[in-house]
Amino acid sequence: MFRTGGKLFKTHCSGSVRGMAMAYALPKAAVIPEIDITALRKSNVPIIWVLGGPGCGKGTQCDKIVQRYGYTHLSTGDLLRDAVKSGSARGQQLQAIMEKGELVPLSVVLDLLKEAMMGKLSNTSGFLIDGYPREVQQGEEFENQIKACNLILYFDVADDTMLKRLLKRAETSGRADDNEATIKKRLELFHSHSKPVVQRYNEKVKTIPAETDPESIFNQVCQHLDSLMTV
Ligand code: AP5
Ligand code: MG
Repeated sequence: MFRTGGKLFKTHCSGSVRGMAMAYALPKAAVIPEIDITALRKSNVPIIWVLGGPGCGKGTQCDKIVQRYGYTHLSTGDLLRDAVKSGSARGQQLQAIMEKGELVPLSVVLDLLKEAMMGKLSNTSGFLIDGYPREVQQGEEFENQIKACNLILYFDVADDTMLKRLLKRAETSGRADDNEATIKKRLELFHSHSKPVVQRYNEKVKTIPAETDPESIFNQVCQHLDSLMTV
């Protein structure tokens, strides 16, 4: 159940297109057809979830990983912002949710991810899934519907630091959610919904203290990725 545009919507978080249509009351023609992900399920390409609070440096570190390891970086925030740019009815509804710093329904995000992963599958050495899962149920649905992730990178940063970084970025980012009130809401949601993901998948999590400069943080990232490759 979630509220947007002053209306209350009920959705089953099943990851189905039907659930997405129910959530957004989309006209039939606007519904994305079911995606065939058989090839993705069968592939051996490593999958790395990249987690941490708003402004912890997920995007910054993923850019560096892509440069060194050639992995494919998929940020759910970026995928959603691309959907918003399309100007569709769905895009407007997503924008309203993101502006408030709330979570977009699971089925919408997971369908976007499946589509993006399938689009890159034939030409990738690994996936960096940045900003997903944001709640335990997202992780479970990903692993049920797609496959298990191999490793989780969690960037651990204090709220004050993340707030400062994002207020600085707000000067130039143009992101509708980079304002103090929404950043605080994003931080709250991170603690209530996303932190439990780190506990749930504890055995796969590599926690990286990420208060220092991007290069030192990246050195730690490389140690974890190098050991993943030698397993
Ligand atoms: P998303 O776009 O993922 O936003 P976020 O998680 O809040 O994180 P950011 O992208 O703002 O920060 P980042 O960790 O990537 O840090 P960055 O490297 O940019 O999601 C936006 C919204 O989409 C969500 O609120 C939600 O509504 C929706 N959404 C997304 N995924 C969803 C999902 N799975 N389910 C449901 N809804 C979802 O760095 C930040 C700044 O700090 C930059 O200016 C950078 O230059 C600087 N910086 C980085 N590292 C350092 C460092 N070490 N030292 C100093 N400065 C640094
Ligand atoms: Mg980001």
